[in-house]
Amino acid sequence: MLAGGQYCPMSRSETTSENIGNRKLKQIYRQGMLEGESPELPVAFEEIREAAWENMSPEGKAYVHGGSGAEETFHRNKDFSAWRIVPRMLRGVAERDMSVELLGERQSWPMMVTPLGVQSLLHDDAERATARAAAELDVPFILSSLSSTSMEDVAAELGETTKWFQFYWSSNKELARSFLHRAEAAGYDAIVLTVDAPTLGWRERLVSRGYYPFMAGEGMANYFSDPAFRDALEQTPEENPSAAVDYFLDVFGDSSLTWEDLSFVFENTDLPVIVKGVLHPEDARLAVEHGAVGVDVSTHGGRQVDGSISAIEALPGVVDAVGEDVPVMFDSGIRHGKDAFKALALGADTVYLGRPWAYGLAMAGERGVHHVLENFLVELDLTMGLAGIDAAEAIGRSALTHESNLAH
Ligand code: FNR
Repeated sequence: MLAGGQYCPMSRSETTSENIGNRKLKQIYRQGMLEGESPELPVAFEEIREAAWENMSPEGKAYVHGGSGAEETFHRNKDFSAWRIVPRMLRGVAERDMSVELLGERQSWPMMVTPLGVQSLLHDDAERATARAAAELDVPFILSSLSSTSMEDVAAELGETTKWFQFYWSSNKELARSFLHRAEAAGYDAIVLTVDAPTLGWRERLVSRGYYPFMAGEGMANYFSDPAFRDALEQTPEENPSAAVDYFLDVFGDSSLTWEDLSFVFENTDLPVIVKGVLHPEDARLAVEHGAVGVDVSTHGGRQVDGSISAIEALPGVVDAVGEDVPVMFDSGIRHGKDAFKALALGADTVYLGRPWAYGLAMAGERGVHHVLENFLVELDLTMGLAGIDAAEAIGRSALTHESNLAH
């Protein structure tokens, strides 16, 4: 399935052992120099994005690429340059351990697949392709509520791979409850409660086209298959898809929620809950106070509050606010290994990767996702080794300096 051209993916067992960086680089250079075969797929993010765009509809591009408003936050997210890595030498980095402990489990990598809805806009195989690539590499996976494939089917693709379910809170309580119960029954290990989408964002790329994928029935797999959702309709989604979509739009979010309402989630699941989308230190504290086991610092990829602080700017304040014992996740703007390294150094326990693999999916399906995830892990491992650090869990603030500390 994955074989083709000179593409030669590493298997799960190979990649979970140490030093993925050296092994993969040697493999690439050997193939290039001895067999005359350079990598089949592009490597640089912008080239992958360009290749992806050739396969995507204008609407799909508008949905995936876009940020909100003037896209100030979308762009600023990608600027990690205020923090500089200060590498240390001769520190014995021959054996590097990229594993991290997360919610009491050891994970092979300090990276997860972020929840990203409507993957049918990227590739016909959608979440199945992403899940297979993640499982192959043992990269933990987070499934969006708004997926094009049902949570049960994605769980089956993932097998033993760590899987979390991202929960969007419907104003129909039966539906919200049903999602939580289904996720637990399907074997998800945690709930990721996204709190930064109380209303839709102003996304000009979509507004100017009058395009909203859900109104075309995309990303509805969990809803259309849900007994509570179907009970609320007069006709089934198969009989009357547009009425089903209308109902979805009516009950999608609940902007009246407050922190006190988190109790509903705990009443309906025994799974640990991570709150995704906090930027203010006080919100991180409130999340923990109300029962979350961890928080994710995120701007939703610059898709919600345009002009907001970027995720990497917000991270140190959140880490300081919740203290060492609370896991902090990080996403938004990560394009290279050095970005993940900086987030880990500033106190993130793991990072969620987003658009890079999404464009890999559009470029070449499962193979494209595998290519991007693997290259990312290779680059992160090499960054760690070159910075003189032999374990992901040992990457700390002393590995960085802020530009304000540099003499001019
Ligand atoms: C998202 N994101 C997202 N988050 C979430 O909690 N539930 C969701 O359904 C989605 N859907 C979604 C779709 C698309 C197309 C994008 C680009 C993003 C946000 C996602 O989890 C993550 O926060 C961002 O992708 C991080 O930004 P970068 O690094 O991808 O730019």
